[in-house]
Amino acid sequence: MSATGAITDAQTADLFTPIEIDGLTLRNRIVMAPLTRNRAGEGNVPTAMNVEYYRQRASAGLIITEATQISEQGVGYPATPGIHSEAQVSGWKKVTKAVHDEGGLIFLQLWHVGRISHPSLQPNGELPVAPSAVKPAQGQALTYEGPKDYVTPRALTLEEIPGIIGDYRAAAQNARDAGFDGVEIHAANGYLLDQFLRDGTNRRSDEYGGVVENRARLILEVIEAVQEVWMPERVGLRISPSGTFNDMHDSDPEHTFGYLVDKLNHYHLACLHIVEAGAKDMCHGGTEVPTSIFRDIYQGRIMVNGDYDARKGNEAIQQHKVDLVSFGRKFIANPDLPERLRQNAPLNAPDPETFYGGDERGYIDYPALPETI
Ligand SMILES: Cc1cc2nc3c(=O)[nH]c(=O)nc-3n(C[C@H](O)[C@H](O)[C@H](O)COP(=O)(O)O)c2cc1C
Repeated sequence: MSATGAITDAQTADLFTPIEIDGLTLRNRIVMAPLTRNRAGEGNVPTAMNVEYYRQRASAGLIITEATQISEQGVGYPATPGIHSEAQVSGWKKVTKAVHDEGGLIFLQLWHVGRISHPSLQPNGELPVAPSAVKPAQGQALTYEGPKDYVTPRALTLEEIPGIIGDYRAAAQNARDAGFDGVEIHAANGYLLDQFLRDGTNRRSDEYGGVVENRARLILEVIEAVQEVWMPERVGLRISPSGTFNDMHDSDPEHTFGYLVDKLNHYHLACLHIVEAGAKDMCHGGTEVPTSIFRDIYQGRIMVNGDYDARKGNEAIQQHKVDLVSFGRKFIANPDLPERLRQNAPLNAPDPETFYGGDERGYIDYPALPETI
C-alpha cells in the first residue's frame, strides 16, 4: 500500500485495524518494539528460550527483534544475539519459524554499537570504533566482568567505512536467509549510526562529518546497501531525534533530523520508527522534537514509540498523526498485549530487575489472559 493509502485508510483506523506493507498484512498496528534482553546463548546464538519468548508475542501486528549485531565489532553488551555467523542464522531460523507458525510477522533490528562497547567485548581486545575519538561523558560499559569505565574509541578511517556498510549488507542478507520478513536499521539511541548523525559525537572533517549532508551520509548509504538485498518496503529505520541516552547531543536536532527525514522520502521504507522524548531525555538537556514536524516532511508510514497506551495510540492513529505504534515494556510483561488492549483488560507490570539478562523468570513466565471458551 502506498503511504497515501495508509493515511487515507487511517481515517477510520485505530490500533486494531490491519495495515499492508509491501504484501505483508499486519493484523493490527500494535508493534512489539525492539527490546534487548541479554539472553542469547553461547556464540551469541538465539536459544530455545528465545524462540519461546518471540512465539508468545506473535500476536503483535509486527515484532521487531532486539537489537542484533551485524559483526563482532558491533557488539556492546553481554549475551546479545548476532546475525553474522552461520550458527546465529540457524538460531534465528527457529525464531522466525515459530512466529510464522503463529501467524505473526517479524523484522530483525540491525545493530552496530560504535563507541558503546569495551575492549573486553571487542575482537582481540581492540578499541571500540566511532566516527570520532569522543568518549561518552557519563555511564559505563556493561561487560561480562561487570560495569567498566568507557574508553576513548578509535575514529574509523575513511577507508574502513565501506567495510562497515558491507557488514550491514551481509547481515541483511543473513536476515533473509534466516526467514525474517524484513529488517529495521537501528539509527537510534546513541549507537554507531546515531553517533555519525549528531554533531555531539561526530567531529570528522571528511565527507562523513561537518555539515548535516555529510553526517547523514552513512545512514543513507547503509539504507542503500540493505535495499540491495531487500525490497525497499521491507526495510525500516529507527531514529530518536530527542534522545540523550548514551550521552547523545546535537546542536540543532530539528535541522539534523529534518534533513535526514526529508532524504528518507527517496527510499520508500517500510516505515520510519520514531522514539519520542522521554522524561529522562528532558532531564539530560534534550530538546523535544515533536513527531508532527516529521509528519509534515515525510510522505511514508510513521511508527511512533515511547510510553504509549491504548488511548494515546488510538488517538494518534485516528488523528492521522501516525500509522503504527510500538510498545516496549508493555510487551515484556504482556505476551498477549493486543488482546489485552482490545479487551481493556488489566496489564501485568514489567519487572525491571529481569529486563537485562537472567533466565526464564521475567522473560517467558509472564501470564497471558486465561483463554475464554
Ligand atoms: C529492556 C529494554 C531493552 C531495550 N532494547 C532496545 C533495543 O534493543 N533496540 C532499540 O531500538 N530500543 C531498545 N529499547 C527501547 C525500546 O524499544 C522503547 O523505545 C522504550 O522501551 C520506550 O517504549 P515503551 O515506553 O513502550 O517501553 C529498550 C528498552 C528496554 C526497556
